[in-house]
Amino acid sequence: MSMASVHIVGVGGYLPERVMTNAELEQMVDTTDQWITERTGIKERHIIAEDQMTSDLAVEAAKLALADAGIGIDDIDALMVTTTTPDLIFPATATVVQAKLGGKDFPAWDIQAVCSGFVYGLAQVEGMMRAGMYKRVLLIGAEAMSRIVDWTDRGTCILFGDGAGAVVLEAGEPDVENGLIGSVLHADGSYRDLLKAEHPHQPSSPEMHHQTVDFSLDSAGTAAVEMKGNEVFRVAVNKLGSVVTEVLDKYEVNDSDIDMLVPHQANIRIIQATARKLKMDMDRVALTVEKHGNTSSASVPLALHDLYQSGRLEKGQLILLEAFAGGFAWGANLLRWSK
Ligand code: UT7
Repeated sequence: MSMASVHIVGVGGYLPERVMTNAELEQMVDTTDQWITERTGIKERHIIAEDQMTSDLAVEAAKLALADAGIGIDDIDALMVTTTTPDLIFPATATVVQAKLGGKDFPAWDIQAVCSGFVYGLAQVEGMMRAGMYKRVLLIGAEAMSRIVDWTDRGTCILFGDGAGAVVLEAGEPDVENGLIGSVLHADGSYRDLLKAEHPHQPSSPEMHHQTVDFSLDSAGTAAVEMKGNEVFRVAVNKLGSVVTEVLDKYEVNDSDIDMLVPHQANIRIIQATARKLKMDMDRVALTVEKHGNTSSASVPLALHDLYQSGRLEKGQLILLEAFAGGFAWGANLLRWSK
């Protein structure tokens, strides 16, 4: 049996209305617009409204992706959400999104690979669709990082933003020339303490297992992003450099063949290092970090959406997506744009 090809046929992105500038952050923590701009490239980020949930951001992005594909929710036969900030511990945010979109019956589930969620999700969906499991899949990266950030920690709170990006994937005739080409994924859990948010209802260390866990409402909402920034930075540059080389080698393409790089938007300096490794000019790199900050797993689909909307994507272009995340978990996807 020859394998189906898999194509992105719809793209959507949504950012909550409220914009938080670096100037506002100067009023909240000991920082400056100059420091944030020079060290990260971030100027502003969007923040979810009090009455919005992660699923609401996902729904808006999904509606745009479905409209772009020219189909409705009834045409979808699986829905995956990648998120670090689910509406609930359970059920999966994907089921909330399904209900809000009026979808029925088809499977809906979340995956968690933090900022690499979308890259992981795309690889997983590609495999399932190539094997013939689904014809049309809605894949959404949706995050409300502002809800788990420690707003008193200048080392992390300046970095993150909220938003959602979505794609509709469609299986087509076997075609090695177009659509998703393949992915490379990695994780190394020995680094997990360098970037994490503890669970509000789990003991924070093994030594605490014998203690009584506090299930009161007061204990909720205390989980916050903790990061050893410069150590994460160092490993991120290193691993992203090797994963982009690995994916190119695996699928036998040269760095000069890549038309567009769509990187995770954590820090402009990390993105520049990866572009340098690929010998790519920055005008061939999708950049949203200045306006969105780090939106975790929403960042890659939001950057793709931004690039798509700018009219710079053309049929036949070779596109490289990559991300690095807590865990650490990192990866890259290669695709030939076929829309
Ligand atoms: O998305 C998942 C992956 N995440 C990432 O990839 C993030 C990776 N890390 C980074 O992007 C960078 O490490 C940061 C932007 C977080 C920090 O930049 P850095 O160049 O690595 O700075 P640093 O942590 O080494 O800190 C340098 C100095 C320190 O002061 P001293 O010790 O030199 O006096 C910090 O206390 O900058 C200070 N600092 C700040 N100053 C003003 C840290 N945060 C701030 C701040 N404003 N917001």
